[in-house]
Amino acid sequence: MENINLVKIRPFWKTRSSINDPLSFFEEIDKKGEFCHYKGFLSFTYVGNPKLVKQVLDKTGTNYNKENPLYDRFRFILGQGMLTSEGKNWRDQKKSFSPFFSKNNISKFLPIIFRNMSQTLDIWNKYAEKEVALNLSEEFFNLTLKIIGEIILSDDLKEHLLEIRKITKVFNEYVASPPIPIFSSSKIPTPLNLKVKKARDGFIDILKKIIEKRMSTKQKREDLLQIILDKNPDEITPLILDQILSLIIAGHETTSNALVWTFFHLSKNTSEKDKIQKLLDREIKGLFPSFKELELLDYLRQIINESLRLSPPVWLITRKSIKENILGGHKIKPGQMIVFSPYFIHRNEKYWKNAADFRPDRFDKNKKIEKDAFLPFGLGPHTCIGSNLSMMQMSLFLSVLLKSFDWSCIGSFPKPFLSFTMGVKDGPMVILKKRKRVKSVFPEKITI
Ligand code: HEM
Repeated sequence: MENINLVKIRPFWKTRSSINDPLSFFEEIDKKGEFCHYKGFLSFTYVGNPKLVKQVLDKTGTNYNKENPLYDRFRFILGQGMLTSEGKNWRDQKKSFSPFFSKNNISKFLPIIFRNMSQTLDIWNKYAEKEVALNLSEEFFNLTLKIIGEIILSDDLKEHLLEIRKITKVFNEYVASPPIPIFSSSKIPTPLNLKVKKARDGFIDILKKIIEKRMSTKQKREDLLQIILDKNPDEITPLILDQILSLIIAGHETTSNALVWTFFHLSKNTSEKDKIQKLLDREIKGLFPSFKELELLDYLRQIINESLRLSPPVWLITRKSIKENILGGHKIKPGQMIVFSPYFIHRNEKYWKNAADFRPDRFDKNKKIEKDAFLPFGLGPHTCIGSNLSMMQMSLFLSVLLKSFDWSCIGSFPKPFLSFTMGVKDGPMVILKKRKRVKSVFPEKITI
């Protein structure tokens, strides 16, 4: 591997943009080079070179771990679930849960997805008939939350949607708050820390009640909770609650935001929107596609990938070095924090021609892309466990919704809000227009 030029950015006030505006802040650093040491409130090494990023991600567990200030914040919220744990605890969870989320198993979730989508269609049809605006991020949040609730717990969390929305807003406010070390420790009882603790306790309470009810019925289900309960039939441990909480949080906000951004890109690129709608009209016979029909619809996959490239929900990933090693020809000391951003790697002209343009056909199967420069689901041993599930969900939602509706946004699209994921704080508000008469009933027979 060639030597990569190292840029030292210090003192920290030499960066003009503020850490309160993370996208501009990292954009400024990204422009300085593919390998920068930044010294400020938080000191870190910023890596913009995809091969070096892959090296770090591949070596997570040996040379690097997730013990760093960003993951500390995640840990305060999620405890020791799969996203935030390491070592044996992480390995045990990975081993238990991976088959459940495998490509072969996820088609089992189709009835859950179709049923929830059908309910959403009913609601969206009413909005369209009355020409009343709906809040896109809220709709996708509720839809993805209900689905992940059923997949994990066999409970669609419908009774708790409003409460969970409020709770996750607190989580996002916390993760997005400036990383000022003196206030960063979750042990200090700042008003925000207390608010987060209360929000987490509230969520745990909801989950505890659902699990207790399930344990009292002794009914076997085909959900992820069953895998956990088969191993722990008698008690609900704090680890079980962390595991469930983590999968629900990681499993809905990411997908929901990815859908919002896909609508954003299609709103801006109407020729791509028209093209996919025509294809859907031609290739999907009913309203709900079969698994096979979806697989043949490669252009939809290209659209989703292009949206994930320009607007990756996980926009920043961090690690800490645990032993001295060499990266890009430079010595990395133990304890050094490493930061990189799928958002900026995905927009680097060196790897993506006309990087700012929305061009789904760059993901055409016959074209070559720089593989390591596309990492919406991460890379290496900690790659996202839910990537197949979320790709399947997004394809299904988009095929049904794009076939059914056209839309217009009221006002401008909201700006990105950067927290756990890159989303929007609220909105956009959209008016839907029915494209064809939509028979919004749950299909009697689901072809897989
Ligand atoms: C568009 C949707 C999604 C995106 C963009 C996404 C992105 C990511 C990324 C980038 C990572 C790696 C983080 C790191 O290395 O530090 C990750 C890990 C993870 N994701 Fe996702 N994710 C999505 C959907 C889901 C879903 C649906 C689930 C669960 C059902 C899920 C559960 C997880 C878990 C448990 C991990 C930790 C994996 C490990 O450490 O082994 N994600 N995700």
